[in-house]
Amino acid sequence: MALTINSETLESVKSIVKEASSLMVKSGYRIMEKDGAVNLVTSSDLAVQDFLTGKLSELIPESGFICEEEDFRDTSKELIWIIDPIDGTANYARGIEDCCISVALADGKGPVLGVVYSPSRGEMYSALRGCGAFLGDEPIHVSGRPFSNGLLCCAMSTYRKEFAKTCSDIIYDVHMKCNDTRRWGSAALELCLMAKGVVELYFEMRLQPWDYAAGEVILTEAGGCIATFDGGAPSLYAPSMVVAANCRESLEELLRTVHRHMDALPY
Ligand code: IPD
Ligand code: CA
Ligand code: CA
Repeated sequence: MALTINSETLESVKSIVKEASSLMVKSGYRIMEKDGAVNLVTSSDLAVQDFLTGKLSELIPESGFICEEEDFRDTSKELIWIIDPIDGTANYARGIEDCCISVALADGKGPVLGVVYSPSRGEMYSALRGCGAFLGDEPIHVSGRPFSNGLLCCAMSTYRKEFAKTCSDIIYDVHMKCNDTRRWGSAALELCLMAKGVVELYFEMRLQPWDYAAGEVILTEAGGCIATFDGGAPSLYAPSMVVAANCRESLEELLRTVHRHMDALPY
Protein backbone atom coordinates (compact mmCIF):
# COMPACT_ATOMS: atom_id res chain seq x y z
CA MET A 1 0.00 0.00 0.00
CA ALA A 2 1.39 3.46 -0.96
CA LEU A 3 2.38 5.55 2.04
CA THR A 4 0.92 9.03 2.43
CA ILE A 5 3.51 11.74 2.89
CA ASN A 6 1.72 14.60 4.61
CA SER A 7 2.25 17.59 6.88
CA GLU A 8 2.61 15.26 9.86
CA THR A 9 5.54 13.52 8.10
CA LEU A 10 7.05 16.94 7.37
CA GLU A 11 6.76 18.03 11.02
CA SER A 12 8.46 14.80 12.15
CA VAL A 13 11.31 15.32 9.68
CA LYS A 14 11.75 18.93 10.85
CA SER A 15 12.08 17.87 14.46
CA ILE A 16 14.49 15.03 13.59
CA VAL A 17 16.65 17.49 11.60
CA LYS A 18 16.56 20.02 14.44
CA GLU A 19 17.65 17.33 16.89
CA ALA A 20 20.46 16.28 14.51
CA SER A 21 21.74 19.85 14.40
CA SER A 22 22.89 19.59 18.02
CA LEU A 23 25.68 17.40 16.61
CA MET A 24 26.99 20.40 14.63
CA VAL A 25 29.19 21.70 17.40
CA LYS A 26 31.36 24.83 17.36
CA SER A 27 34.59 23.02 18.25
CA GLY A 28 36.01 19.62 19.09
CA TYR A 29 35.15 17.88 15.80
CA ARG A 30 37.71 16.05 13.68
CA ILE A 31 38.44 17.19 10.11
CA MET A 32 39.40 14.53 7.58
CA GLU A 33 40.32 14.68 3.89
CA LYS A 34 38.16 12.61 1.51
CA ASP A 35 39.96 13.32 -1.74
CA GLY A 36 42.72 15.79 -0.97
CA ALA A 37 42.48 18.96 1.07
CA VAL A 38 39.67 20.42 -1.09
CA ASN A 39 37.15 17.70 -0.22
CA LEU A 40 36.67 17.45 3.53
CA VAL A 41 34.47 15.53 5.89
CA THR A 42 34.23 16.14 9.62
CA SER A 43 33.21 13.86 12.47
CA SER A 44 30.06 16.04 12.68
CA ASP A 45 29.03 15.17 9.09
CA LEU A 46 29.32 11.48 10.00
CA ALA A 47 27.47 11.87 13.31
CA VAL A 48 24.61 13.88 11.71
CA GLN A 49 24.24 11.36 8.88
CA ASP A 50 24.24 8.44 11.28
CA PHE A 51 21.59 10.09 13.47
CA LEU A 52 19.38 11.00 10.49
CA THR A 53 19.50 7.59 8.80
CA GLY A 54 18.62 5.90 12.11
CA LYS A 55 15.66 8.20 12.89
CA LEU A 56 14.34 8.45 9.30
CA SER A 57 14.33 4.70 8.81
CA GLU A 58 12.29 4.43 12.01
CA LEU A 59 9.90 7.07 10.64
CA ILE A 60 9.42 5.24 7.30
CA PRO A 61 10.80 1.71 7.72
CA GLU A 62 10.37 0.79 4.03
CA SER A 63 12.42 3.76 2.74
CA GLY A 64 15.84 3.79 1.03
CA PHE A 65 18.71 6.27 1.19
CA ILE A 66 21.15 8.27 -0.91
CA CYS A 67 23.57 10.00 1.46
CA GLU A 68 26.76 11.91 0.80
CA GLU A 69 29.08 10.30 3.29
CA GLU A 70 30.54 6.82 3.18
CA ASP A 71 28.63 5.73 0.04
CA PHE A 72 25.48 5.16 2.04
CA ARG A 73 23.10 4.19 -0.77
CA ASP A 74 20.08 1.92 -1.09
CA THR A 75 17.82 2.90 -3.98
CA SER A 76 15.80 -0.30 -4.20
CA LYS A 77 12.81 1.29 -2.40
CA GLU A 78 9.88 3.39 -3.63
CA LEU A 79 10.64 6.26 -1.25
CA ILE A 80 14.23 7.46 -0.99
CA TRP A 81 15.74 9.87 1.52
CA ILE A 82 18.38 12.08 -0.10
CA ILE A 83 20.63 13.49 2.60
CA ASP A 84 23.47 15.93 2.88
CA PRO A 85 24.36 15.82 6.57
CA ILE A 86 26.23 19.12 6.30
CA ASP A 87 26.02 21.14 3.10
CA GLY A 88 28.84 23.66 3.25
CA THR A 89 31.34 21.40 5.03
CA ALA A 90 34.28 23.60 3.98
CA ASN A 91 32.52 26.55 5.68
CA TYR A 92 31.71 24.47 8.76
CA ALA A 93 35.31 23.23 9.08
CA ARG A 94 36.58 26.83 9.08
CA GLY A 95 33.95 28.20 11.43
CA ILE A 96 32.14 30.08 8.64
CA GLU A 97 28.49 30.04 9.55
CA ASP A 98 26.82 29.36 6.18
CA CYS A 99 26.09 25.65 6.28
CA CYS A 100 23.01 23.52 6.78
CA ILE A 101 21.49 20.06 7.01
CA SER A 102 19.59 19.08 3.86
CA VAL A 103 17.04 16.25 3.79
CA ALA A 104 14.69 15.37 0.92
CA LEU A 105 12.29 12.49 0.41
CA ALA A 106 11.78 11.46 -3.21
CA ASP A 107 9.20 9.24 -4.88
CA GLY A 108 8.94 8.22 -8.56
CA LYS A 109 7.92 11.79 -9.48
CA GLY A 110 10.84 13.65 -7.82
CA PRO A 111 11.32 15.22 -4.41
CA VAL A 112 8.07 15.21 -2.44
CA LEU A 113 9.41 16.74 0.78
CA GLY A 114 12.37 18.94 1.61
CA VAL A 115 13.86 20.28 4.83
CA VAL A 116 16.91 22.55 5.02
CA TYR A 117 18.02 23.77 8.42
CA SER A 118 20.79 26.24 9.12
CA PRO A 119 21.51 26.22 12.86
CA SER A 120 23.69 29.35 12.79
CA ARG A 121 20.97 31.35 11.01
CA GLY A 122 18.23 29.64 13.02
CA GLU A 123 16.42 29.14 9.70
CA MET A 124 14.24 26.09 9.06
CA TYR A 125 13.10 25.91 5.43
CA SER A 126 10.58 23.25 4.45
CA ALA A 127 8.18 22.25 1.70
CA LEU A 128 5.82 19.48 0.79
CA ARG A 129 5.03 19.06 -2.92
CA GLY A 130 1.81 20.92 -3.74
CA CYS A 131 1.58 22.65 -0.34
CA GLY A 132 3.89 25.69 -0.60
CA ALA A 133 7.26 26.50 0.96
CA PHE A 134 7.92 27.83 4.45
CA LEU A 135 10.61 29.50 6.53
CA GLY A 136 9.64 28.44 10.03
CA ASP A 137 5.84 28.76 9.93
CA GLU A 138 5.78 31.61 7.40
CA PRO A 139 5.07 30.99 3.71
CA ILE A 140 7.90 32.14 1.42
CA HIS A 141 8.00 33.18 -2.22
CA VAL A 142 10.67 34.05 -4.78
CA SER A 143 11.25 37.70 -5.60
CA GLY A 144 9.87 39.41 -8.69
CA ARG A 145 13.23 40.99 -9.61
CA PRO A 146 14.16 40.83 -13.30
CA PHE A 147 17.40 39.22 -14.52
CA SER A 148 19.07 42.63 -14.74
CA ASN A 149 18.57 43.18 -11.01
CA GLY A 150 19.21 39.56 -9.99
CA LEU A 151 21.90 38.31 -7.61
CA LEU A 152 23.71 35.26 -8.98
CA CYS A 153 24.86 32.41 -6.72
CA CYS A 154 27.51 30.25 -8.33
CA ALA A 155 30.66 28.21 -7.91
CA MET A 156 33.80 27.57 -9.94
CA SER A 157 33.60 23.74 -9.90
CA THR A 158 35.33 23.03 -6.62
CA TYR A 159 36.10 19.34 -7.11
CA ARG A 160 36.59 19.21 -10.90
CA LYS A 161 38.89 22.15 -11.57
CA GLU A 162 39.16 21.21 -15.27
CA PHE A 163 35.66 22.76 -15.65
CA ALA A 164 36.57 26.02 -13.86
CA LYS A 165 37.43 28.03 -16.99
CA THR A 166 34.06 27.30 -18.61
CA CYS A 167 32.34 28.12 -15.29
CA SER A 168 34.22 31.38 -15.12
CA ASP A 169 33.20 32.30 -18.71
CA ILE A 170 29.54 31.56 -17.97
CA ILE A 171 29.63 33.41 -14.64
CA TYR A 172 31.31 36.39 -16.32
CA ASP A 173 28.59 36.62 -18.98
CA VAL A 174 25.80 36.41 -16.41
CA HIS A 175 27.58 38.82 -14.09
CA MET A 176 27.76 41.43 -16.85
CA LYS A 177 23.97 41.28 -17.27
CA CYS A 178 22.78 40.95 -13.66
CA ASN A 179 23.14 42.94 -10.43
CA ASP A 180 26.00 41.05 -8.73
CA THR A 181 27.53 37.67 -7.94
CA ARG A 182 27.81 35.66 -4.71
CA ARG A 183 29.61 32.44 -3.76
CA TRP A 184 28.23 31.29 -0.39
CA GLY A 185 29.47 27.70 -0.36
CA SER A 186 26.21 25.89 0.40
CA ALA A 187 24.04 24.99 -2.58
CA ALA A 188 21.08 23.88 -0.45
CA LEU A 189 21.07 27.14 1.49
CA GLU A 190 21.45 29.21 -1.70
CA LEU A 191 18.39 27.54 -3.28
CA CYS A 192 16.47 28.37 -0.09
CA LEU A 193 17.69 31.98 -0.20
CA MET A 194 16.21 32.11 -3.70
CA ALA A 195 12.98 30.60 -2.35
CA LYS A 196 12.73 33.33 0.27
CA GLY A 197 13.29 36.04 -2.35
CA VAL A 198 16.78 37.39 -1.61
CA VAL A 199 18.69 35.98 -4.61
CA GLU A 200 17.41 35.31 -8.14
CA LEU A 201 19.92 33.33 -10.22
CA TYR A 202 21.89 30.12 -9.65
CA PHE A 203 24.46 28.23 -11.67
CA GLU A 204 26.69 25.32 -10.76
CA MET A 205 28.41 23.03 -13.27
CA ARG A 206 28.24 19.78 -11.31
CA LEU A 207 26.34 19.09 -8.12
CA GLN A 208 25.26 15.88 -6.45
CA PRO A 209 21.57 15.06 -5.75
CA TRP A 210 22.04 15.61 -1.99
CA ASP A 211 23.16 19.20 -2.69
CA TYR A 212 19.88 20.17 -4.39
CA ALA A 213 17.07 17.62 -3.82
CA ALA A 214 15.59 19.38 -0.76
CA GLY A 215 16.33 22.86 -2.17
CA GLU A 216 14.57 21.87 -5.40
CA VAL A 217 11.20 21.18 -3.79
CA ILE A 218 11.51 24.23 -1.50
CA LEU A 219 12.36 26.48 -4.45
CA THR A 220 9.68 25.18 -6.81
CA GLU A 221 7.03 25.38 -4.08
CA ALA A 222 8.11 29.00 -3.56
CA GLY A 223 7.45 29.72 -7.24
CA GLY A 224 11.00 29.33 -8.62
CA CYS A 225 12.34 27.10 -11.40
CA ILE A 226 15.23 24.65 -11.53
CA ALA A 227 16.71 22.71 -14.43
CA THR A 228 19.79 20.92 -15.64
CA PHE A 229 21.78 21.48 -18.87
CA ASP A 230 19.04 20.26 -21.25
CA GLY A 231 16.26 22.17 -19.47
CA GLY A 232 14.82 19.04 -17.82
CA ALA A 233 14.83 18.29 -14.09
CA PRO A 234 18.25 17.58 -12.48
CA SER A 235 18.75 13.87 -11.79
CA LEU A 236 18.10 12.58 -8.29
CA TYR A 237 20.48 9.66 -8.85
CA ALA A 238 23.52 11.14 -10.62
CA PRO A 239 25.57 14.36 -10.67
CA SER A 240 23.88 17.20 -12.58
CA MET A 241 24.43 20.74 -13.71
CA VAL A 242 22.03 22.96 -11.75
CA VAL A 243 20.57 26.16 -13.15
CA ALA A 244 17.81 27.91 -11.18
CA ALA A 245 15.97 31.19 -11.18
CA ASN A 246 13.09 33.05 -9.61
CA CYS A 247 11.13 32.94 -12.88
CA ARG A 248 10.97 30.98 -16.15
CA GLU A 249 12.21 33.91 -18.25
CA SER A 250 15.42 34.27 -16.21
CA LEU A 251 15.95 30.50 -16.18
CA GLU A 252 15.79 30.48 -19.97
CA GLU A 253 18.23 33.39 -20.19
CA LEU A 254 20.63 31.49 -17.90
CA LEU A 255 20.32 28.35 -20.03
CA ARG A 256 20.96 30.34 -23.22
CA THR A 257 24.15 31.73 -21.63
CA VAL A 258 25.28 28.23 -20.62
CA HIS A 259 24.61 26.89 -24.13
CA ARG A 260 26.70 29.68 -25.67
CA HIS A 261 29.72 28.16 -23.87
CA MET A 262 28.95 24.44 -23.99
CA ASP A 263 27.46 22.05 -26.57
CA ALA A 264 27.26 19.19 -24.12
CA LEU A 265 27.99 18.39 -20.49
CA PRO A 266 31.69 17.55 -20.06
CA TYR A 267 30.98 14.57 -17.71
C1 IPD B 1 29.21 21.71 -1.55
C2 IPD B 1 28.42 22.97 -1.42
C3 IPD B 1 28.98 24.05 -2.34
C4 IPD B 1 29.02 23.57 -3.76
C5 IPD B 1 29.80 22.29 -3.87
C6 IPD B 1 29.16 21.23 -2.96
P1 IPD B 1 29.47 20.07 0.56
O1 IPD B 1 28.68 20.68 -0.73
O2 IPD B 1 27.05 22.78 -1.73
O3 IPD B 1 28.19 25.19 -2.31
O4 IPD B 1 29.64 24.56 -4.53
O5 IPD B 1 29.75 21.87 -5.20
O6 IPD B 1 29.84 20.03 -3.08
O7 IPD B 1 30.66 19.34 0.04
O8 IPD B 1 29.82 21.20 1.42
O9 IPD B 1 28.44 19.16 1.14
CA1 CA C 1 26.70 19.35 -0.36
CA1 CA D 1 28.12 17.62 2.64
